[in-house]
Amino acid sequence: MERLQKVIAGYGYASRRKAEELIKKEKVMVNGKIIKELGIKVSSNDIISIDGVIINKDVKHEYYLLNKPRSVISSVKDENGRITVTDLINTEARIYPVGRLDYDTTGLILLTNDGDFANTLMHPSFEIEKTYIAKINKILTKEEINKIKKGIKVDNRLVEVKRFKIKKVSQEKNTMIVEITIIEGRNHIIKKLFKELNIDVMKLSRIGYGFLDIKDLKSGEYRNLSIKEIKKLYSIAKK
Ligand code: URA
Repeated sequence: MERLQKVIAGYGYASRRKAEELIKKEKVMVNGKIIKELGIKVSSNDIISIDGVIINKDVKHEYYLLNKPRSVISSVKDENGRITVTDLINTEARIYPVGRLDYDTTGLILLTNDGDFANTLMHPSFEIEKTYIAKINKILTKEEINKIKKGIKVDNRLVEVKRFKIKKVSQEKNTMIVEITIIEGRNHIIKKLFKELNIDVMKLSRIGYGFLDIKDLKSGEYRNLSIKEIKKLYSIAKK
């Protein structure tokens, strides 16, 4: 027996959080009865329906790695009709992004319809290195570089900086391109980290997610994750 929201997520219908919302909105039925509260457990013999439609237990899980272009939103739908990351992937499956990149951030983002996988990777305890290339509107001083390497407090929590490299300096434009690797995944975290030093991020791209990179993908291109890669991500989560 497993919690209803976990089972719904496992079938790839929605993330666990979305499944909880559906239950609260009384849109979920188990064996023909509307479920009104969270916490109920179901078995594989129970028939689950959402909005009156029985959810299919045989949904095939799909896993994608996308090189997200600028001006694309990291969600399934956008109220303002902007292009979303799911619009870029040719599939009938109900996939959604694992975490988010800002509208103006480019680079590596994973998408799936496997709720368990997405939840595992989005959990704060899932520690994976994320590497970004950032163009900033200042040439950093030695002191600032040292401060960044020691980690910067954002909203009272230290962001540990695993690696930091200067890639390019433009004296004329007073800009710098840096590579920075962090573990955590709070929203807008790189922009907020530099903001603590009064620096703006002019361009941002995620180039690495643990052992995954986007070297072979042009902007807007995507590929399937291999079984080996999926297993490796799960094994990192279990460490
Ligand atoms: N940090 C940011 O500021 N934006 C992103 O999109 C990702 C990390």
